Amino acid sequence: MSNKTIDTRQGHWALAKSGKKVLRPGGKELTLELIGKLDITETDDIAEFAPGLGFTASIALGHRPQSYTGVELNEEVAEKLRKTINGEGRRIITGNAANSNLESDSLDKVYGEAMLSMQADHRKSEIIREASRILKKGGFYGIHELGLSPDNISESDKANILQDVAKSIKVNARPLTSQEWINLIENEGFKVVYIAKRPMHLLEPSRIIDDEGFFRTLKIAFNVLRFPDLRKHILTMRRTFKKHESNLNAIAIVAQKI
Ligand SMILES: C[S@@+](CC[C@H](N)C(=O)[O-])C[C@H]1O[C@@H](n2cnc3c(N)ncnc32)[C@H](O)[C@@H]1O
Repeated sequence: MSNKTIDTRQGHWALAKSGKKVLRPGGKELTLELIGKLDITETDDIAEFAPGLGFTASIALGHRPQSYTGVELNEEVAEKLRKTINGEGRRIITGNAANSNLESDSLDKVYGEAMLSMQADHRKSEIIREASRILKKGGFYGIHELGLSPDNISESDKANILQDVAKSIKVNARPLTSQEWINLIENEGFKVVYIAKRPMHLLEPSRIIDDEGFFRTLKIAFNVLRFPDLRKHILTMRRTFKKHESNLNAIAIVAQKI
């Protein structure tokens, strides 16, 4: 994956090309719930890992935190974000969330969405460890990612699903069961304090209307009809999510640094 320019072959950027703004598995509703649980206040120093299009950044900034730092790997994405996120106490840094260069024990809240699922498990742990390093003791870490169910899913079912999902979204996504997400987070010095789940309905019409609103949904439909390759890719993704609907979900977790 190039970290300099946007690769529109990848599922999330294909969706962004269609005009879709909400690219996380549990949609806007789960994002709002996650940000609500983080309870961002005007005295908080916060960081977001992988702000992407800046959708959640604008919700978090609405709570007027004392400071906001977005850590975005992709240079082109970071440059676009800087056009809207700037000013006193607001900054976007280009870098890897696994090695953010932010000061240790300096933040009250850290969160990231739809960015751990695409990493190998040891890389997920590195990013969670980095969140733990930069948070103050008692600070909160929030995630919103792709989940698998049930907790005792067989290795062969898991392998089939991951293969289908990787083929359709063209990213090696590695979702985890709730218990696996909890274990990974708690192994890095956190205590999980909240969990919520939603169906993986990212490409279901009712969710798209909820997430994007009526007029943007029309625009997305128009773009999907206009570009045959984009249409084919998005329909393949939708078929894959539908096929594995009973095993795929969206999960949000908030954990406190102990
Ligand atoms: C699927 S998008 C999610 C973006 C956003 N959080 C959202 O939910 O809409 C993935 C984004 O994560 C960024 N990303 C992936 N790995 C990263 C890492 N290790 N550190 C920082 N950003 C990362 C990519 O550059 C991309 O912008």
